[in-house]
Amino acid sequence: MTLVLGIETSCDETAAAVVRLDAHGAAILSDVVLSQIEEHAAFGGVVPEIAARAHVEAVDGVVRAALNEAGVTLDEIDAIAATAGPGLIGGLIVGVMTAKAIAAATGKPFLAINHLEGHALTARLTDGLDFPYLLLLVSGGHTQIVVVSGVGRYERWGTTIDDALGEAFDKTAKLLSLPYPGGPSVERAAASGDARRFAFPRPLRGETRLDFSFSGLKTAVRQQANALAPLSEQDVADICASFQTAVTETLAERVGRSLDRFRDAHPDVAAPALVVAGGVAANKAIRATLDALCAARGFRLVAPPLRLCTDNAAMIAWAALERMRAGLVDGETASAAPRPRWPLDSLAEPLIGSGKRGAKA
Ligand code: KG4
Ligand code: ZN
Repeated sequence: MTLVLGIETSCDETAAAVVRLDAHGAAILSDVVLSQIEEHAAFGGVVPEIAARAHVEAVDGVVRAALNEAGVTLDEIDAIAATAGPGLIGGLIVGVMTAKAIAAATGKPFLAINHLEGHALTARLTDGLDFPYLLLLVSGGHTQIVVVSGVGRYERWGTTIDDALGEAFDKTAKLLSLPYPGGPSVERAAASGDARRFAFPRPLRGETRLDFSFSGLKTAVRQQANALAPLSEQDVADICASFQTAVTETLAERVGRSLDRFRDAHPDVAAPALVVAGGVAANKAIRATLDALCAARGFRLVAPPLRLCTDNAAMIAWAALERMRAGLVDGETASAAPRPRWPLDSLAEPLIGSGKRGAKA
């Protein structure tokens, strides 16, 4: 039996969790997430300095709560894992230093985990999925299509060249004076809007690459809003509905081609699966589109419970357990310093803009 304490502080959630792996499988013994949403709401987005300070104040209590909830002491823990990147450097430093301090004080090993690896492997914790599978990660910081072939074996097929999809939702909401976080606000407003009223752009449509771009769409939304100002409630609803349709269609086109490409690359996989992760996966229009795409192509859509799709520490502890089980605890994992940029697929070309914008692009 192996018990791992995980710590996640890469963005605006301070989280800690204890996950156990034994002969019967994996179990999440505790999963504590303290969100900072209220502290950032007034600014319409995550403010790095506020986030870092909030992590410092919260992390001890959150770790204690995770241990208490799991009913274990530090003595019983086998390893301490923390997100070491990618993310906001202030928060990463807090999580890594906390984990390293606990490791040093208890004499247990420390593991530096890539946040994206946490998202990538979650479906194995929740659904026991076998490799390989396709992952669509759509959050406030990331928009990626990744083939997950094994622990430490990731191939990025697509990413955003500017804003993340959740970020596009958040910026659209801010522009329309809707409350933060923007995704749920835009979705709510879109429900009573006319999606055909505005023809917003579908960036990179028709290109063979599987990348995304959302900043042009944001500009189009701003220009439309300025042209109509002052906006009626119906104008806001129509803009939201038209925006949501534009991003859903863009996603459908790119994901559809990814599913076909996955089939071609892995003809031997009898029951191919698409895993969706990240906060944007909560969007019902997007979820329905993914459902339809998968159904039409014979893929299984795996959507872990939202709590484990969004940022949490159980996925960090789980990634550590996967690495330990696979014998992949190398020097880098054992000692890595916090790093704001840490691509999951080290062979993928960094794209212009990626890593320079967004909470943790
Ligand atoms: O995964 P997450 O909780 O945090 C990280 O970004 O890591 O994702 C948060 C993002 C925010 O940008 C939020 O606006 C977006 O997910 N989001 C949504 C919805 N709910 C959350 N976007 C669209 N529709 C939603 N219902
Ligand atoms: Zn995340």
